[in-house]
Amino acid sequence: MATEEFRKALGPARLGGIELRNRFVKAGAYEGMCPGGEPSDALIEHHVRLARGGVGMTTVAYCAVSPDGRTFPQQMHLRPAIVPKLRELTAAVHAAGARASLQLGHCGFFSRNREVTGGRPFGPSWKWNMYGTLVGMPLARPMTDDDIVRTVGEFGAAAERAVGAGFDAVELHLGHGYLLSQFLSPWTNRREDRWGGPLRNRLRFPVEVVREVRRRIGRDAPLLCQVNLRDGFPGGLEVDEAAAVAQALEAEGVDALVLSGGFTSRDAFYLFRGGIPLRQMIEVEHSAMQKTALALFGPFVLSEHPFEELYFLELAKRVRAAVRMPLGYLGGVVSRAGVERAMREGFDFVVLGRALVADPDLVERWGRGAVERSRCDACNRCVAEMDRPGGVRCVLGTG
Ligand SMILES: Cc1cc2nc3c(=O)[nH]c(=O)nc-3n(C[C@H](O)[C@H](O)[C@H](O)COP(=O)(O)O)c2cc1C
Repeated sequence: MATEEFRKALGPARLGGIELRNRFVKAGAYEGMCPGGEPSDALIEHHVRLARGGVGMTTVAYCAVSPDGRTFPQQMHLRPAIVPKLRELTAAVHAAGARASLQLGHCGFFSRNREVTGGRPFGPSWKWNMYGTLVGMPLARPMTDDDIVRTVGEFGAAAERAVGAGFDAVELHLGHGYLLSQFLSPWTNRREDRWGGPLRNRLRFPVEVVREVRRRIGRDAPLLCQVNLRDGFPGGLEVDEAAAVAQALEAEGVDALVLSGGFTSRDAFYLFRGGIPLRQMIEVEHSAMQKTALALFGPFVLSEHPFEELYFLELAKRVRAAVRMPLGYLGGVVSRAGVERAMREGFDFVVLGRALVADPDLVERWGRGAVERSRCDACNRCVAEMDRPGGVRCVLGTG
């Protein structure tokens, strides 16, 4: 028997100016299906499978707003040349009954992409770029005012292109330690000008991006932001400030937030919880030096965080209490009971990552009452798989 909360999750919902057939959203989870930065047929099939599997909206992950915004060269950046393929993708997802969102971001200092301008990535302040050190990019420089203004424009242009390519929604990545999150975090933003210091200054660049994106996409296309509940370590952004960030984004008219946490460059598995697939991460690494570094230092730099269902719930409730805007709960939803709990706690959307990598048709099967729980056991080997030639897949053979 479906509970009232479960029926609500399976029923239609408004998101800004559009309607979704239900409240289940596939989280942006890097697919690794863009060889040479080109969206492939495999990327289209991946999202069509999720759409056929019943999600209300699927999110195409980790698209950079500029060539410099890519962590690595195989990542998409939203240039005119890829728009026709993205149009094919959105049309195919729509034909399967779902909406499509595009996650837009910029990596900031966290890059090993040798093509970045001048060979030096940038962020809020000077920063050691551990991830790029072995490819000769050990230091990131602070952004100038001109860099900031240009990047605001790049976010706007990319968002406009996304909507032109048929995406129903745009999700701005303000979390996980990428550029906008680096500005929000007191750990990485040490600036003393109007872009740094108190939270209202650290918010200035992300808010300017939100305003520019809204100006370019108009009122009807929903604008979502993914934000951190916590960076996940002392000295990073904490939940009190996260609640204030949410209030600022609500005041800007953002249509919904996706709540997450973590800072990839600092503690990669805080945001996932569960296993650390170190052996597989070493296997998929191309550079011999990087393989050696991972083998030697991996056990020390990759901290374990045990998985539990709805592991961000207590933090997410703090933000729920601070705003009225629609919120998507993300982090450890694997069971029907988890969906019901998230709905009962007042979240408007249920956002799922690994459960849908393992079982792309989970929503459809939940709807039929055919299954209680996803087969995902949080082994996190999908996180290594995304770097193999075929892209992300579940090693249980179900995804
Ligand atoms: C293979 C993989 C790739 C991911 N890539 C991204 C990404 O590109 N952007 C992002 O915001 N989160 C990314 N994530 C994080 C997920 O969106 C989500 O926050 C995380 O998996 C926790 O949710 P879950 O417990 O439902 O899996 C990725 C997760 C996985 C498993």
